[in-house]
Amino acid sequence: MQENKKFYITTPIYYPSDKLHIGHSYTTVAADAIARYKRLMGYDVYFLTGSDEHGQKIERKAKEKGITPKEYVDNIVASFQDLWKLMDISNDGFIRTTDAYHEAAVQKIFKKLYDQGDIYKASYTGHYCTPCESFWLERQLVDGCCPDCGRKVEMVEEESYFFRLSKYADRLIEHIKTHPEFIQPVSRTNEMLNNFLLPGLEDLCVSRTTFKWGIPVTFDEKHVVYVWIDALSNYITKLGYLSDDNSMMEKYWPADLHLVGKEIVRFHTIIWPIMLMALDLPLPKQVFGHGWLVLDGGKMSKSKGNVVDPVKLVDRYGVDAIRYFLLREVPFGNDGVFSNESLINRINTDLANDLGNLLSRTVSMIDKYFGGIIPEHDVHVAEEDDSLITMAESLAAKVDSCMDSLMLPEALQEIFALTSACNKYIDVTAPWILAKDEEKQGRLGTVMYNLAECLRVVGVMLTPFLTHTSPRIFEQLGISDEELTKISSVGTFGMLKVGTKVQKGEALFPRIDIAKELAELENSK
Ligand code: MSP
Repeated sequence: MQENKKFYITTPIYYPSDKLHIGHSYTTVAADAIARYKRLMGYDVYFLTGSDEHGQKIERKAKEKGITPKEYVDNIVASFQDLWKLMDISNDGFIRTTDAYHEAAVQKIFKKLYDQGDIYKASYTGHYCTPCESFWLERQLVDGCCPDCGRKVEMVEEESYFFRLSKYADRLIEHIKTHPEFIQPVSRTNEMLNNFLLPGLEDLCVSRTTFKWGIPVTFDEKHVVYVWIDALSNYITKLGYLSDDNSMMEKYWPADLHLVGKEIVRFHTIIWPIMLMALDLPLPKQVFGHGWLVLDGGKMSKSKGNVVDPVKLVDRYGVDAIRYFLLREVPFGNDGVFSNESLINRINTDLANDLGNLLSRTVSMIDKYFGGIIPEHDVHVAEEDDSLITMAESLAAKVDSCMDSLMLPEALQEIFALTSACNKYIDVTAPWILAKDEEKQGRLGTVMYNLAECLRVVGVMLTPFLTHTSPRIFEQLGISDEELTKISSVGTFGMLKVGTKVQKGEALFPRIDIAKELAELENSK
């Protein structure tokens, strides 16, 4: 591992108000692929996710069920953790905003901001959207409703604490303008500047008195801290900010990447950086606002009744098929559409045909023609070898450049371009014809070797994305030397050892009969 190469990546912390749907898994799977990729590249990664457990919405739901808010969230948070295990999420930390260290640190943050005059008390009258836990000005409402979710807002009138966002607005605008990488994709930068910052920032109401389920303000106990101040702080409280041990803060802060859905970019690029400025902490390097996974033209949501259960999908198709679909289908930064048909098509075309078939054909041919032993080979004998080898040797650099700009689907496209090239290479070299000619055994060996070595490279490059598949590729290729599964082994073609015994295994992704499957899904509704 290289010294000083650290990467701190976070997902939003999830509301335990409902079961998570496949749209939620999208943020976490994308963050996981990035975290795993950075680890593969030798970074010291800290990957954080968690749950955002306070607020009026949760208090109301618990009341409806006749249990305490804590009992209510405990149950749901346990199901989050199970889901992340199922999706093979490699988070290093999981924070709950009900954790004692978090609550204590948030109280200290609030007090510090109050003591230095950045938080003050005044009376608030205005509109509040409880499902979004957002305050809105009259002029921001759309037909009298929340501009984010379209639901009715409530008129609230209470004595509150306010955070002086206005004091820091110019500094933030300057930061955004001089750091074009801070808010990505760039369209979101314009949205934040034009819709929120340039028209003028109002101070933000940061405490509530009409419900109890929140972190109490230590010096005025009838107030609880506004849930977004509580939630955003998680990114530093988990690192021990204002605790006795500052070592994680020193090691990992500032965050390299906050990955969030587009509807919460606003909180992460306005409230959060201003909190950090007020606390005299460096700002995160980047906030990336990804698009939504949509269904029938709308965002998935329980209230619309159009959620897709990730557990059912994983049970039916396996975790790697679902991870692949999420990472490949949604242009990163834009919305993508989920449908059973597009999922099955992706599985069949890319995973079963291009990749799965290539592996099984290669292993079968090595078995049949060389008794399962990876044969001797000549280097660079034909034009088709040269172009294949060049492609394999340059793959890591291409993937790296995609991952640098968080172009996840493009990174996968590059990897699958090599599998397609291998499939074409089989057509061009026609090993079954070579096999019939005694004199062509050397050439046949070279073709087999090149295919197996390309598959090894594909296996290495897929490790961050398809966590179960790469080990299965290595197993079928007979690779037990860990060095051959590392990124350092893919720059030079020819590391796979001649004489390795391949092991025929099950198909990586069995082909799905799409008509039959869709009919079955329809019937099981
Ligand atoms: N609790 C806040 C975040 C606080 S972070 C300090 C929250 N939680 S959430 O559970 O509503 O959403 C968590 C993440 O899931 C967000 O990034 C959100 O954009 C994402 N998604 C929820 N539905 C989604 C889709 N249908 N598609 C893609 N992402 C979606 O917001």
